[in-house]
Amino acid sequence: MNKARSKAPSAIELLKKDHDYVRQAYRRFEKMNHADRAALGALVSEVCALLEVHAALEEEIFFPAVREALDEEDLMHEAEIEHEFAKTLIGRLEAMKPADARYAPTFTVLCEYFIHHAKEEETQIFPKAQRRYAGMRELGRKLIERQTALEERP
Ligand SMILES: [Fe+2]
Ligand SMILES: [Fe+2]
Repeated sequence: MNKARSKAPSAIELLKKDHDYVRQAYRRFEKMNHADRAALGALVSEVCALLEVHAALEEEIFFPAVREALDEEDLMHEAEIEHEFAKTLIGRLEAMKPADARYAPTFTVLCEYFIHHAKEEETQIFPKAQRRYAGMRELGRKLIERQTALEERP
């Protein structure tokens, strides 16, 4: 095995990194002046873009790969339903302007919701997937490939 591959992050490490990024962005959001609409809009767009890619990586690659080994259909469905709800909130934010009275409150709900969802993944899905699915590093490589393709999309 070559060095680059042996050092490749596992799928779970990559997904957790995204979760941490959102937790940090939410703390920045809580501290920032929401009257600064340009800064608010930039932060919200950044987080929404990351969340869309993150959800796609889990739905297209991670969940299908670990689903059988995990054998937790209810948990999988729960996660998928939570993704749908998060996407509804992202859609609402994308249709709003930062000056809208419900813009920051909608983002608060999205972040709190996502942070709860991420905690469930980290405590209920990831540890079991780690134990039962052998190819986490290979899966990490696939996530990076797909992430790069999604981020390069115009
Ligand atoms: Fe998720
Ligand atoms: Fe996640």
